Amino acid sequence: MVDLSEIKNALNLDELEKIRVKLLGRNGVITQKFKELKNLAPEEKKKVAKELNELKEKATKLIAEKKVELEEKLLEEKLKLERIDVTLFNPKPTGAIHPITDTMNKIIDFFTKMNFSVETGPLVEDDFHNFEALNLPKYHPARDMQDTFYFKDGTLLRTHTSPVQIRTMMKQKPPIRMISPGAVFRRDYDLTHTPMFHQVEGLVVDSKGKVSFANLKFILESFLIHMFGDVEVRFRPSFFPFTEPSAEVDISCIFCGGKGCRVCSHTGWLEVLGCGVVDSNVFKAVGFKDVSGYAFGLGVERFAMLLNSIGDLRSMYEGDIRLMEQFK
Ligand code: PHE
Repeated sequence: MVDLSEIKNALNLDELEKIRVKLLGRNGVITQKFKELKNLAPEEKKKVAKELNELKEKATKLIAEKKVELEEKLLEEKLKLERIDVTLFNPKPTGAIHPITDTMNKIIDFFTKMNFSVETGPLVEDDFHNFEALNLPKYHPARDMQDTFYFKDGTLLRTHTSPVQIRTMMKQKPPIRMISPGAVFRRDYDLTHTPMFHQVEGLVVDSKGKVSFANLKFILESFLIHMFGDVEVRFRPSFFPFTEPSAEVDISCIFCGGKGCRVCSHTGWLEVLGCGVVDSNVFKAVGFKDVSGYAFGLGVERFAMLLNSIGDLRSMYEGDIRLMEQFK
């Protein structure tokens, strides 16, 4: 008779497969016996065929069971081998200051030296601070500029750091000279957008006539030269609901020096900032009278990508140490 005991003794999946072929393969022992049936007398044939079918069934079942057992064993061995000892001490630290933190620190450093205070506000905001007080009334089409995450109770994840302007003006009297760094949230995800990113807001308010667009230009030009070195700075008319007039600020491309390349889409310029003179409706919302001011806002990731030649924004959030090691 055929010996099935070797199935139980198979040491690994390879061995088991060889046994299966030996027993049930095209030229296997059991298959062979089926072929020999035709040589038997009818009565005998019936009996042997029944035995053979039972044998085949038994062998198939034993092999299937053994296979599960061996696969589980293999998985366990693999898990044991790949086990990570999180208590292991690495005398050569792999970490580095994250490019976003590093860039944020450089920005904060410049403005604190220019006598700006650093203010913060909540990440979960209400409609008033994030939109309404910033001259973005309900149903205003400019709200579409920012795809918002809302909570059921009507609160939202702030879409920019501008609500900190409002919070600061509601608790402080002019003169105000502040920046506000922090995380902001928008429903966006591609090569240059992530649902969470960072901004630095700036706001200067003083009595009427004391703060002008010229002051804004001077501060931002000095700031951009501090960050990017010897670049040209250009102000382009733009629109923000909370500033009037508004501008977007470009620097000459730091990769091609303004000649035109892939990074600047062959324009020679890189857009880096939004700014403007604070709209009178914003001052009205916080109850300020006879004041003047300017504000600006920038995306920290954009600065970090330009300063470190990082092509895909998302790579900064993947936590891959191979990226981080380049920033030691
Ligand atoms: N809050 C604007 C934005 O997120 C940036 C900005 C701030 C523009 C302040 C002007 C003044 O796009």
